[in-house]
Amino acid sequence: MRITMVGLGYVGLVTAASLAEIGHHVTCVDQDENKVRQLKEGILPFYEPGLRELITNLTSKSSLTFTTSLERSCLGAEVIYIAVGTPPNDDGTVDLSSLETVALQLAGYIKADVIVVIKSTVPVGTNDYVKRLIDEHLPTPVSVDIVSNPEFLREGTALHDTFFGDRIVIGANNPDAAKVIEEINKPFNVPIVKTTLQNAEMIKYASNAFLATKISFINEIANICEKVGADIADVAKAMGMDKRIGPQFLQAGIGYGGSCFPKDTRALMQISGNVAHEFALLKAVIDVNNKQQTLLVEKAKQRFGKLDERRIAVLGLAFKPNTDDIREAASLVVIEQLLTEGATVTVYDPVAMNNAKLVLNDQVLYAESVEAALKEADMALIVTEWEIIKQADLPKWRNLMNEPIIFDGRNCFDPSKMAEHNIEYHSIGRPV
Ligand code: UGA
Repeated sequence: MRITMVGLGYVGLVTAASLAEIGHHVTCVDQDENKVRQLKEGILPFYEPGLRELITNLTSKSSLTFTTSLERSCLGAEVIYIAVGTPPNDDGTVDLSSLETVALQLAGYIKADVIVVIKSTVPVGTNDYVKRLIDEHLPTPVSVDIVSNPEFLREGTALHDTFFGDRIVIGANNPDAAKVIEEINKPFNVPIVKTTLQNAEMIKYASNAFLATKISFINEIANICEKVGADIADVAKAMGMDKRIGPQFLQAGIGYGGSCFPKDTRALMQISGNVAHEFALLKAVIDVNNKQQTLLVEKAKQRFGKLDERRIAVLGLAFKPNTDDIREAASLVVIEQLLTEGATVTVYDPVAMNNAKLVLNDQVLYAESVEAALKEADMALIVTEWEIIKQADLPKWRNLMNEPIIFDGRNCFDPSKMAEHNIEYHSIGRPV
């Protein structure tokens, strides 16, 4: 199929490359000239394992091309995917302006029957609204079908999630359009769920909200574990062995971050508020997460009283490992707290340093390695469970630090190992 992908963020770029990999011809379009120029040269706008190699290979075979011209990209396209950002407004509602702009531009350029697939996460009713918007502005009487095809990939494992996903959701009012999108996706060999537009939109929000609920739930259990002398690692492991619960997303820590869970949970609160439904459970999930992100510094304050004049190493800035994304990362909350307390903060992350510099500027010191961050630190706070941190040379860590005290927000280590190395170790939901 000849496919156009509008919007080259995480979802757009990964989906475009994956569709090209299974045999389609994909033209990628983005209004950001710099991004498009760099992509043509094989430079990616973000870090995602395996993606650069895949894109370089596909570009050399011309099955994946890049342009800034939406008009040209529409010529001959049988299916147009839209994967533009739908960021949150200050009040938690979803900002649909990019989607509206693209829809209106597309209406002007579409010259033949086409299917428009919306990948962006959008509130229930948006796919219908976009269809109306396009239909109302079409200068030529052609048929435009809308399909909702929400994305479930995770940053850091995006390609794996695409090729080994649990399901592909295809929402459509026209069964013929759904069939075309089903055929496009067949080579992925992933179970396909065909449903209505509204259901597809709701499945996306409900899935993310449920995963966020699992995290806040296990974090609350962890907080109780600490107080009653239980160990969250054993508790979560045995809970997860119950197939009805499942082992995933039971990793206690200092809360979820990223560009999806915080935004989508807030949006679902808005969506339920709009229909006068008080989603008390989801509100609690969000409140628990906000509090959880402050836990590490609270523990440090309890231990030391004051943190001013302390030299503190923050290890890990990305909202999770294998990404350079720091959007809504717990690290930002932690660092803001530490700076307010008057601490001197040195940070290190294996790939998110450049993004962090754009946000944190000169408020913190930037180290070139884990070891450099730990040198003469009065304590270390682990915020992201990068492999390079988990593989610590503990005797070396202890020697580098002024005081060997670690507050671990991601439970990277076995507390008994820390005791063996005479490191004072505070983690989440486990006996001190
Ligand atoms: C999430 C969903 O997992 C994807 O299915 C979805 O497609 C995506 O949002 C989206 O809506 O686009 P992502 O934000 O990339 O993916 O990251 P996750 O791996 O889900 O992690 C989110 C956050 O939860 C991270 O901060 C992570 O540290 C935290 N987390 C995750 C925990 O604290 N504990 C866990 O057990 C799992």
